[in-house]
Amino acid sequence: MLELQGVNKRFGGLEVLVDLDLLVREGEITSVIGPNGAGKTTLFNVISGRFPPDSGRVVFQSRDITGRKPHRITMAGLARSFQVTNIFGRLTVLENLDLASQTRDRKRSSLLARAADRREVRGRSQAILERIGLTGRGDLPAGVLSHGDQRHLEIGMTLATQPRLLLLDEPTSGMSPAESASAIDLIRDLRSEVTILLIEHNMRLVMNLSDRIVVLDSGRKIAEGPPEQIARDPGVRRVYLGDA
Ligand SMILES: Nc1ncnc2c1ncn2[C@@H]1O[C@H](COP(=O)(O)OP(=O)(O)OP(=O)(O)O)[C@@H](O)[C@H]1O
Ligand SMILES: [Mg+2]
Repeated sequence: MLELQGVNKRFGGLEVLVDLDLLVREGEITSVIGPNGAGKTTLFNVISGRFPPDSGRVVFQSRDITGRKPHRITMAGLARSFQVTNIFGRLTVLENLDLASQTRDRKRSSLLARAADRREVRGRSQAILERIGLTGRGDLPAGVLSHGDQRHLEIGMTLATQPRLLLLDEPTSGMSPAESASAIDLIRDLRSEVTILLIEHNMRLVMNLSDRIVVLDSGRKIAEGPPEQIARDPGVRRVYLGDA
């Protein structure tokens, strides 16, 4: 579904991604782990078109998307969530979902003034509202939701663009244990319809959910494989888990 070939990215003198190859298979949950500053968010920024790589290629569904603009990549079926919540607090929950839907429908946005189109968008938003467990809260301003519910809404907003591949950057950050548990349920539930690339520090979640794990350290891939293999990898334990 997604392949990175020899991707390099530097900021000034700092090499943030170094000769990175990565493969995400359709229908799987692939997780990216690694210490703070390893380059995980930068990897998402390069995939989603926020920054072009300095060299290398990003191929999505057999199309070279290297250096394309973010909204074109979204329209091609690739959506991302952000490490920091990215919702409009004064708009209602449903209005946030409607807006996200319209990103994908950009070509038609001038037509969205039509009542029938508005109803179609709203219908999709309602369905997502149930999916993310916020039924009954659609008319609240998004800003009054709990942190956990806002993160759910953010995942809902990525779903509203009808992606084939979803990039989730630390979806459980700042969540209480109960909120994390419901986020895990949601992600597990999504895997039947969308391929997921996940950045996550919560190791229990990563080990539970992932089909494959890629470990980054200082912009280099130091290991990849199924969770059992990563858990016993001596290099990973040393670098990431702080083993002697
Ligand atoms: N836009 C930017 N300009 C300059 N340096 C940047 C930029 N974005 C990231 N960096 C640097 O690149 C390195 C990797 O950052 P990145 O955010 O990708 O790490 P990360 O693995 O996501 O870390 P964390 O786990 O803390 O979220 C860091 O040293 C960071 O300071
Ligand atoms: Mg990050």
